[in-house]
Amino acid sequence: MIDVLIAFSVFLTLAIVVTAVAHIWVAVPFIPTPMKVAKDMLEFAKLKGDETLYDLGAGDARLLIVAKRAYPNISAIGVEIVPTVWALGKLRILCSRQDVTLRMRNILSVNVSDADCIFLYLIPNMMKKLEDKFQKELKPGTKIVSYAFSLPNKTPVKEMSVPWLTGERKLRMYEW
Ligand SMILES: C[S@@+](CC[C@H](N)C(=O)[O-])C[C@H]1O[C@@H](n2cnc3c(N)ncnc32)[C@H](O)[C@@H]1O
Repeated sequence: MIDVLIAFSVFLTLAIVVTAVAHIWVAVPFIPTPMKVAKDMLEFAKLKGDETLYDLGAGDARLLIVAKRAYPNISAIGVEIVPTVWALGKLRILCSRQDVTLRMRNILSVNVSDADCIFLYLIPNMMKKLEDKFQKELKPGTKIVSYAFSLPNKTPVKEMSVPWLTGERKLRMYEW
């Protein structure tokens, strides 16, 4: 019994260390979107039901699971770089029994030219890099739905106030 407890403690400590180091490296922490806001994002996106939907920096894949439950015919693809967070997402997908893909990759190295809609919850520095990437890759009409942070040079086509950690922030939709 003691052996199991020691092994579990070592595993937990390693997982915490890997997560902390990885987050210092990528500079965007894993802060999951509250479930209420996840549903607001989906409603805000106004999907038709047959789109290819990405969540770049997908965390535990909750946005994609919520979307896939509501629209079973979409292709739901997440990209998450931190191994422990990715593993948590894979576990969550397994428990949800939804057909959601979660890739362990850097979002800047994934081609998103097939996207019809992209969900984002990142930080300003990453939004700038993604805007440049989107400019090269996205097809006309692709929707970006961003929670809390804006693309620096694009004007949103619509906005909505939603709760954030403290107070309120905006959901913004951009169209390419
Ligand atoms: C604020 S969380 C949002 C998680 C999820 N999208 C949600 O709304 O619940 C941002 C996530 O992006 C991931 N991330 C940050 N930089 C990344 C990168 N370059 N490539 C892939 N994932 C990244 C972080 O590890 C973190 O899990």
